[in-house]
Amino acid sequence: MVLAPVEELCAALAQAFEAERELGYEINYRDQPPDSFQRLDSRVRGALQQAFKTGDLAAFQAGGYINFSSDHYTRNLVAASDDYELMVLCWRKGQGSRVHNHAAAHGWVTVLGGRVEETRYSNPRAGMEDDSVPTSPREGPAVPPPLPGVLGAVTPCPQLRETGRGVAGPGSILYINDGQALHAVRCADDTDLEEGAVTLHLYAPPVRRVFLYEPDQDRVVQRVPGFFSRGGVRVAEP
Ligand SMILES: [Fe+2]
Repeated sequence: MVLAPVEELCAALAQAFEAERELGYEINYRDQPPDSFQRLDSRVRGALQQAFKTGDLAAFQAGGYINFSSDHYTRNLVAASDDYELMVLCWRKGQGSRVHNHAAAHGWVTVLGGRVEETRYSNPRAGMEDDSVPTSPREGPAVPPPLPGVLGAVTPCPQLRETGRGVAGPGSILYINDGQALHAVRCADDTDLEEGAVTLHLYAPPVRRVFLYEPDQDRVVQRVPGFFSRGGVRVAEP
């Protein structure tokens, strides 16, 4: 049976995660031993490269995963399990994320089309396993933004120190975890795709809660990430 590129990718990812699970390893950046991660990383990158080669944008377009919005960048869920979640993010020119973390997850970002700029920052919570621990003794509640999925906010926003910046084009695979850095991603000003940029994000395990760093508002917001579409079907705005 010949599988479509996206299905083939999901099958290869499921196998890669299952293989490590069967060896008794937890899949997350904190508990997974380096040799298990290296094996996983190599299989995941192989599967992502294959998907890019065979699928290009067309397969993701056909699945209904490429949806742009003039209001904000969109997150479009392709597949999810207990081990991982796979989503397509669509960025118009001028759109970008806030500085954010990825909980305990490994995060791989493959550029499918256009160019994105990633800026990395040192993570003030690197190594902290308890989300409730304040980063500063002065930390206190802040007024949260009126957005779906917001759980709360605290002030002040810790000082964010930029540690690196780069632009990535089609076929590039970036990797990040909370032990390494926080980051912000935006559509690069010199993107060569008319609509903006399209990226494929793989998080393992799925990210259930994120911290969004807002220096302008001097607060850190905790939020349950939401989706613009799931399985190619538009999710109703709450
Ligand atoms: Fe991210």
